[in-house]
Amino acid sequence: MMSKIARPDAEQKRLKRKLSPPASTVPGRQAGAALSIRPVRRGDLDAVIEIDAMVTDIEKRDYWNSLYRRYADSVATGQHFLVAVAGDEVIGFVIGEVRDWEFGSPPCGWVFAIDVRPDARLAGTATQLLKAICDRFRKAGVSKVRTMLARDNTLILSFFRSQGMMIGPFIPLEMDLES
Ligand SMILES: CC(C)(COP(=O)(O)OP(=O)(O)OC[C@H]1O[C@@H](n2cnc3c(N)ncnc32)[C@H](O)[C@@H]1OP(=O)(O)O)[C@@H](O)C(=O)NCCC(=O)NCCS
Repeated sequence: MMSKIARPDAEQKRLKRKLSPPASTVPGRQAGAALSIRPVRRGDLDAVIEIDAMVTDIEKRDYWNSLYRRYADSVATGQHFLVAVAGDEVIGFVIGEVRDWEFGSPPCGWVFAIDVRPDARLAGTATQLLKAICDRFRKAGVSKVRTMLARDNTLILSFFRSQGMMIGPFIPLEMDLES
C-alpha cells in the first residue's frame, strides 16, 4: 500500500514549484528560451547595473563601468565577467579571477560576485554561471575555487553550499583606520 505521508524530496519539489515563478513570468525564459552564458559586452552593462541595484539597492554606474574596463577583455589574465542570457535578456552575471599566491595560497579561482534577477531565480541560472566560470578556472590550470560572503547573507550561503562549497582555511580580519 502506498504511504500517504509525503516524502521529504517530494515535499521539497512541491514547495519549490510553489516558490518558483511560472516560466512565462520570467523575463526571457518563456517556454523554449534557452539560457546561454557568454562574456559580458558593453551593451549588457545597463542590465547588469539594474540587477545589482535590485539586489543591493544602490546604483553604482561608475563602479560597473570601471569593472567592465578591467575585466571584459582580460580572459588571458584569468579574469572573467560572464553574463547569463535568456532569449535576448541578461538575467544574471558572475565575476571572478585566478589569483596567484594571494594570502600565501597557491593560485586559485576567486568568485567575487554572482547575481540573478529576482524574477528569474530558482531556475538553475546561478548554477550554470558558477559552472561556466569554474570551467574557465579549470582551463587556467587551477583546481580550487574560493569566495567570500557576508555572514548574514543566508541566501548566497545556501547557494554556495548547494554547489559543494565548504568553510575554507582562511578567516577575514578587519579594523577601523583612524584619520
Ligand atoms: C543566490 C543566487 C545567485 C541564486 O541564484 P539562482 O539562479 O536562483 O540559483 P539556482 O537556481 O542555480 O539554485 C541552485 C541552488 O541554490 C540553492 N538556493 C537558491 N536559492 C535558494 C533559496 N532562495 N533558498 C534556499 N536555497 C536556495 C538551492 O539549493 C538551489 O538548488 P535547488 O533549486 O535544486 O534546490 C540568487 O538568489 C541571487 O542573486 N541572490 C542575491 C545574491 C547576492 O546577495 N549577491 C551579493 C553578494 S555576491
